[in-house]
Amino acid sequence: MVSQKKIDPWGSLDIKDYRKLFEDFGIESFDKYKNKLKDNRYVRRGIIFGHRDFGKIMNAIEGKKPYIMMTGLMPSGKFHLGHKMVADQIIYHQQMGACVYVCSADLEAYVMRGMDLPKAREIALTEYLLNYVALGLDLDNTTFWFQTDYVVPYYRFRDMLSRKVTLNELKGIYGKLSPGKILAVLAQSADILHPQLEQFNGPTPTVVPVGADQDPHIRLTRDLSGRFQLEYGLIPPASTYHKFMRGLQGGKMSSSIPKSAIALSDKPKEAIGKIMSAKTGGRPTVDEQKEKGGVPEECTVYDLFLYHLVEDDDGLELIYRQCKSGELICGECKAKCSDLMAKYLDQHHKKIGKAAKTLEKYLNK
Ligand code: TRP
Ligand code: SF4
Repeated sequence: MVSQKKIDPWGSLDIKDYRKLFEDFGIESFDKYKNKLKDNRYVRRGIIFGHRDFGKIMNAIEGKKPYIMMTGLMPSGKFHLGHKMVADQIIYHQQMGACVYVCSADLEAYVMRGMDLPKAREIALTEYLLNYVALGLDLDNTTFWFQTDYVVPYYRFRDMLSRKVTLNELKGIYGKLSPGKILAVLAQSADILHPQLEQFNGPTPTVVPVGADQDPHIRLTRDLSGRFQLEYGLIPPASTYHKFMRGLQGGKMSSSIPKSAIALSDKPKEAIGKIMSAKTGGRPTVDEQKEKGGVPEECTVYDLFLYHLVEDDDGLELIYRQCKSGELICGECKAKCSDLMAKYLDQHHKKIGKAAKTLEKYLNK
């Protein structure tokens, strides 16, 4: 029987079992690249857990051949630690030699989320791009655009894509359609593929780092690339999939639920408040914790160490073991986390000051 399961890119995704994505959708495990990319914290720790066709990108990296890293940001609100994970990946690829393309999905925010365009633009620049630069993105080697404000070859190609896909095919992938949804889908395919047109880089292996919720777009775009094979020689884009950080309250991490997410603009004090009230994997009483140990797998404080605060694997393992054995209790652990977070934010805020100047120059060019 054909699987009826669907991923809805605009739904709120709760993928309990990432392994199922391998069976149900044909995403492949990223394990075999763990050794080759062990300088990447997210790869080492299995946070980047899956891919399609990444072999092409690995070859390009190893052969020092050109490749493109393309991804899009949804301007939604404050830039938080979940967004930082994507930014770190963009910057990682740039440092590996990729040609970087990043778009602000302001059209998608407008048609699918009811956001107005000036607001989307402001958020993209003052929250996302500014933090990208502070985290290390080199704007001189980045093509950044707004879906609503870009160049003719991109729009021409987006519109041409409509001839290569049927309504039934889109219904099969996305369920109920609307004019806006169709436009957002075509725009996203154009975002991913247009860097391979001759006006840009020409046919080049491309990788798109995304959350698994974006996989329907990736599958469609890979198919569409094949249908332009003769005309443009497009290479089907590869993708990598990362796990989402859970919110600090245990649910979704979202800028619309301030307590769920630490924003990179949060004052250290605010961030510490959020850590103090975060959901842990601790036991109801200290005695019970000492006896049975905590459950780091269920702890959002542990997530902060894992994703962002502890680079060194031995240091992370120590926290893990001390939590499990009951040596570490949550109060102490939160204090340690708060300390690291406060230091991190202070440093980052200094970088923001410099990044603001760089961004201003870039925008006035
Ligand atoms: N749909 C993506 C999101 O919701 C944003 C996006 C637009 C994107 N264009 C893209 C992602 C191209 C990857 C590649 O976050
Ligand atoms: Fe989480 Fe730390 Fe408590 Fe373990 S000791 S459950 S890692 S807060």
